Amino acid sequence: MPKATYHFPKGFLWGTATASHQVEGNNTNNNWYRWEQEGNTAHKSGLACDWWGGRWKEDMDRAAETGQNTHRFSIEWSRVQPTPDRWDEDAIDRYRAMARGMTERGLMPMVTLHHFTDPLWLFEKNAWETDYPLAYFEKYVRKMVEALKEYVSTWVTINEPNVYSLSGYVAGDFPTAHKGLNVASRVMANLLRGHALAYRNIHQIQREARVGYALHYRPMVAARSWFPLDALMRNIQYNGINMAFPSAISTGAMKSPLGSVSVPEAKGTQDFLGLNYYSVDTVKFDLLNIKELFGKRYYPANSDFSATKFIANIPHGLYDSVKWATSTYPSLPILITENGVEDHEDKMRPRYIAGHIHQLWRAVNFNWPVKGYYHWSLVDNFEWERGWTQRFGLWGLDTETQVRIRRPSVDLYAEICRENGLSSEMVSKYCPEVLADIFPE
Ligand code: BGC
Repeated sequence: MPKATYHFPKGFLWGTATASHQVEGNNTNNNWYRWEQEGNTAHKSGLACDWWGGRWKEDMDRAAETGQNTHRFSIEWSRVQPTPDRWDEDAIDRYRAMARGMTERGLMPMVTLHHFTDPLWLFEKNAWETDYPLAYFEKYVRKMVEALKEYVSTWVTINEPNVYSLSGYVAGDFPTAHKGLNVASRVMANLLRGHALAYRNIHQIQREARVGYALHYRPMVAARSWFPLDALMRNIQYNGINMAFPSAISTGAMKSPLGSVSVPEAKGTQDFLGLNYYSVDTVKFDLLNIKELFGKRYYPANSDFSATKFIANIPHGLYDSVKWATSTYPSLPILITENGVEDHEDKMRPRYIAGHIHQLWRAVNFNWPVKGYYHWSLVDNFEWERGWTQRFGLWGLDTETQVRIRRPSVDLYAEICRENGLSSEMVSKYCPEVLADIFPE
């Protein structure tokens, strides 16, 4: 067996990512809670991981004890501002305690200000379909930055605006008042305005802040290289899904297959790019798929599939994502703000982790400015419309008892974090099936 270690640069950030509604429990004042009560999800979030009941402390102990040095978590707007005219100072204090608790454990806190959920009062005004949220979002962001600035200087304004818009307004999996591509595009433009406002306001309050957003980036390939319609569909889907925010941040015009919307204030509003990478889509022309503009996205039948086939394990897609990011924004710092797989038995996760870290190392070796990696996620958490059917945690969760179950991936990831690298010993111990791919003789 070859003996070698792929090392990362000194100071590399190793952590996990979570989001408020997925871990806190009893989040009764947002649109997802109502959506769950109305029976639109496989399960209800319930107590989730009981972070609001205080279990964030034991989970942060777990993160720190297993070598991590950062954690990405999100603020639940509906807790902080339960009605438009009221701040809940107790809730704000709890988030301060969390940020402080992370710092005390040696975990640099990174805060997401909007991760899919909206307060009910905002949802009832049709959420981001109009510019109604903007003035409120600005005040909420200022309030939270003032409250957390002692501990937090890395901010994600909005998580996956593309997924928020498309899963809701096009696919219908997320709660929305209306549907359609036009309204999805309007929502995206308003999120972009919200992001730009947040960017400026955060910097006004905290000069040293690093502000970005988290892009769900999907590399895509055409199914049949000889068939021009597949290539056309691939391009339409690729641009439609990936490019709204990036195009606007580069040029001030948000481009989508529906046209271009001018949002000049968005230009240049990022200090880093947050990349959420999970898998690569294959795209083909499909006359029957009118809803998605005649393009069908899928994984080839021979893929290395996750438990419910939600994800195909394609590590080089992470390398391709970083390559795209660094060629689009030369020298802009990149953080992998999410990457992970649903796997309750932890059969694939070790090789998923090792494969992706290896590809990330390749990217880092070109001196592409990748500064950190956040695995999704620390503990199994509420997986949106898919409820508890998918388990993304390094630790498993028994939702009845709140007991955490240590999966082998905990130890693999801990070894990676402590070593600041990936060694052939780790791969042969946790996922020997990919040793020859990652460490060829
Ligand atoms: C989201 C997370 C989600 C994860 C896995 C990402 O799109 O940001 O909230 O849990 O994917 O599905």
